[in-house]
Amino acid sequence: MIRDCRLPKQSDDTVKIVRSVHVAVGYYPARFPYRIALGFMGWLGGASRVLDPFVGSGVACTAARLWGHECVGFDINPFARLLARVSSSTLSSRDEEALARALRGLESYRGPGWRPRWGNVEYWHPPVVLEALERLWGYIHSLGDDRELYVCILKVALARVSRLFSYADPEIPKLYRGRGLEKLEALLHGRPPSAIEDLIVGRLRERVSRIVRALREYTRLRPRGPAPRLDELDLAREPLPQGLAGVDAVFTSPPYLAAHEYTRSTKLELYWLGYSDKEVRALRNKEIPYGPVEPYRVESPTFERLEEDIASRAPRLLALYRRYFWALARAFDEIARLGPPIIALFVGPATIASIPVPIHAILAEHLSTRGYTPLCRSVSAIRARKLFRRRNNSNPNGIQEETLIILSRKP
Ligand SMILES: C[S@@+](CC[C@H](N)C(=O)[O-])C[C@H]1O[C@@H](n2cnc3c(N)ncnc32)[C@H](O)[C@@H]1O
Repeated sequence: MIRDCRLPKQSDDTVKIVRSVHVAVGYYPARFPYRIALGFMGWLGGASRVLDPFVGSGVACTAARLWGHECVGFDINPFARLLARVSSSTLSSRDEEALARALRGLESYRGPGWRPRWGNVEYWHPPVVLEALERLWGYIHSLGDDRELYVCILKVALARVSRLFSYADPEIPKLYRGRGLEKLEALLHGRPPSAIEDLIVGRLRERVSRIVRALREYTRLRPRGPAPRLDELDLAREPLPQGLAGVDAVFTSPPYLAAHEYTRSTKLELYWLGYSDKEVRALRNKEIPYGPVEPYRVESPTFERLEEDIASRAPRLLALYRRYFWALARAFDEIARLGPPIIALFVGPATIASIPVPIHAILAEHLSTRGYTPLCRSVSAIRARKLFRRRNNSNPNGIQEETLIILSRKP
């Protein structure tokens, strides 16, 4: 029996501020629960180097900085990395001035517009909205330097607003028309084009102010850790970079089998940020468990037992099951090779054709053959988190609880 993890209690105010930063920058599927991320970072104690190789929108880094840790994050998805960059940033008066200047520049911008390299763009935005968005993105892309925080804030804010002014159903993360069409048509009804552009710019300003207010609060907490390092890495296929020594802990939440579709959920944003159809397809081909991967040895009796079960009860899903665990076993071997004293995993108990798949248990078994032993575990019920649901899902209630399991390297 593994004992319960006793993570230090977090002040409600700190949790609220971290949440407000992430809510302000915009939705990303299956984020870490803020209290758990903060609790883990507190549990770690003195300043450490923390790695999240599936960093997503960066909750690990937002929390790590507050406890004085250095955070290194990798993800294949550039929109996720942009969200992570903004939400783990402190805001200086110089940033605020640059942002105010940029918003003034937007009013008088008469330069070229910018249209995404996306075959379907006209299917997702009505012409009048497309024209306004093209002008706004033309301006933002002309600002250039992505390392500047004000540019990143404008991009995440306009990406959010571009989705609001699309036909995408707001209730469904992946691009799906559904109720989005009616909603947008009702919003635009009877307004002349200039009023529509004003409306869009108004929403952009509101979104920017919301991000600024949230980052001011975060900055007031005086995060002691340095700004995180965030890079692109495909952990299903690539090695961790050389020179990533001295990692004290890995804290991560890999995809939960096929519970979410990160590329499809962020497609619209990726196109407006400048990625082409071809690049978005390539990203999808890297995403676990959708892209092809080389067979890899998964050292887990539970994995093998379920492999047989799925082969006989749901043979069509066997390839997905294997791809998923081949990719993760490879990824966690890379991580184990770094030799961090602690590896903490946060995952939900996914199912394949109603067969429960205990991801954390399979990964823990695999990691035990690499010298890691479970230290403690904590199970949390999912209450308010928005989870991706498939229509015709044979598990209509979706995932009901998630598990944090902390493993330590055997002495
Ligand atoms: C559960 S999410 C992480 C969410 C994150 N904990 C947060 O707080 O936002 C899993 C992440 O794995 C990423 N991912 C999927 N396949 C990957 C791969 N091959 N290499 C690296 N990252 C990948 C997805 O883009 C997604 O952001």
